[in-house]
Amino acid sequence: MIIGVPKEIKIGETRVSMTPSLCRRVTALGAKVLLEKNAGMNSGFTDAEYKAAGATIATSAAKVWKSAGLILKVKEPLEAEYGLMQQGQTIFTYLHLAAGPKLAKELCRKNILGIAYETVEGVDGQFPLLKPMSQVAGRLAIQLGAYFLQSQLGGSGVLLGGIPGTMPGHVVVIGAGNSGAHSVQMAVGMGARVTVLDLDTRKLEQLDTEYRGRVVTLMSNPANIEHAVADCDLLVGAVLIPAAKAPIVVSRSTVAQMRPGSVIVDIAIDQGGCIETVHPTSHEKPTYQEHGVIHYAVPNMPALVGRTSTIGLTQATEPYVAMMVQKGVERALNEHKGLAKGVNTRNGRIVYGEVARAVGFDS
Ligand SMILES: NC(=O)c1ccc[n+]([C@@H]2O[C@H](COP(=O)([O-])OP(=O)(O)OC[C@H]3O[C@@H](n4cnc5c(N)ncnc54)[C@H](O)[C@@H]3O)[C@@H](O)[C@H]2O)c1
Repeated sequence: MIIGVPKEIKIGETRVSMTPSLCRRVTALGAKVLLEKNAGMNSGFTDAEYKAAGATIATSAAKVWKSAGLILKVKEPLEAEYGLMQQGQTIFTYLHLAAGPKLAKELCRKNILGIAYETVEGVDGQFPLLKPMSQVAGRLAIQLGAYFLQSQLGGSGVLLGGIPGTMPGHVVVIGAGNSGAHSVQMAVGMGARVTVLDLDTRKLEQLDTEYRGRVVTLMSNPANIEHAVADCDLLVGAVLIPAAKAPIVVSRSTVAQMRPGSVIVDIAIDQGGCIETVHPTSHEKPTYQEHGVIHYAVPNMPALVGRTSTIGLTQATEPYVAMMVQKGVERALNEHKGLAKGVNTRNGRIVYGEVARAVGFDS
């Protein structure tokens, strides 16, 4: 099997889908790795390290895409890559097709076996390949929110932890899953006042037990959301309905009630965003203002910390990549139900129900 590792081209992206350590593992199992020159550079891995681990370095992305049966990536293929995808190729990466109907069509047109990291399931029904990046994004959301709250950046000038004798900042997190729970952890660590909302009472119970009353947990409903958001300094959107377009949980009129200079970080933007006023931004221009509120909605936040993110992501993908090398892709999919859940496109069709519903077609 030839595994192709192209350099990521999304704006500001710094991650790479394979570390030298993973490269050593798969080449020992018999795979050939074809890595685009400097693919690991922004995560701090040199071509020399990959060569020492058994990789062949290709001078262009085209060479990687042309020769590899399995393309291992981080972000979804961008338009500039559509022409490089080969008929019948397997691509293992984040796809987020609910927010990308154009890519979904292209994958179908090229008969790509598209295995999406975000829908691969663990035995516990969780999403093991989404988890590490959600943890990164959840933690970053508070770091970024604290930064954009600064006066010189147009923020309201609130220090999240406050100082003795002042009110700490109020952080509201909607969604208490992987990203939301990590936002809560960071916000508590910084000394902020924290409110978290979810529909799943078990998640709220867990956080209530963990933080022993230090965090307010609320059922996610319009009344609670409106009340909490109108009073917050930093709002974090962290909801997910697996594979589906994110539900809008905060309306425009609620955003309009926020104090000027408050900050919204919508982590769920990769699934379309869960706040009505949000549209995707990029690392080049990560924020914009609406109703006087600073909006941050970068779909590839983990790229800000490429080294940590690459190591976290590849540690999670390693068992699946190794399984595909050992058994071949088809046998691995047949024998591992959780990996098979990752298949979003196959034989010219969208085969994941939620994705087909979100994009409005299945072939
Ligand atoms: N922007 C980025 O760079 C980036 C990085 C990583 C993950 N993400 C995205 O972050 C989102 C969240 O991922 P996650 O791993 O935390 O998901 P998760 O499944 O662990 O958690 C999502 C939570 O949302 C809750 N939820 C669903 N509908 C809700 C509603 N109406 N109100 C309140 N809560 C609701 C669920 O009960 C669940 O607890 C996903 O879209 C994921 O793709 C984005």
